[in-house]
Amino acid sequence: MTDASFVAVAATDAVPEGKFLKVTVDERPFIIAQVNGSFYAVEDNCSHEDYPLSFGCLDGDRIKCSLHGSRFSLLTGAPLDEPADAPIRTYAVKVADGQVWMDPTGPTN
Ligand code: FES
Repeated sequence: MTDASFVAVAATDAVPEGKFLKVTVDERPFIIAQVNGSFYAVEDNCSHEDYPLSFGCLDGDRIKCSLHGSRFSLLTGAPLDEPADAPIRTYAVKVADGQVWMDPTGPTN
């Protein structure tokens, strides 16, 4: 991961506290979320059945799949409820110049 790998994906004020935004980078969907003042990036895909997590909702620092209810940690990608038993991918995020930047080149988990 290098600074050159980061791409600006949203204005910080487009992702208010406790909300998430779906973004697309290189035709791949991601979720950018802000929780407790920190920004997170995860793939927009449930590990259970390839279903968009952006159809779900945030539950604190977790994102909940709307299809079968599994929740995943935004920090680690770990599944916290059945039926999902595999993590989702998480990505490095930084904030600069009023923008949220993420590194889509490789997951951090
Ligand atoms: S598709 Fe997400 S929990 Fe089943």
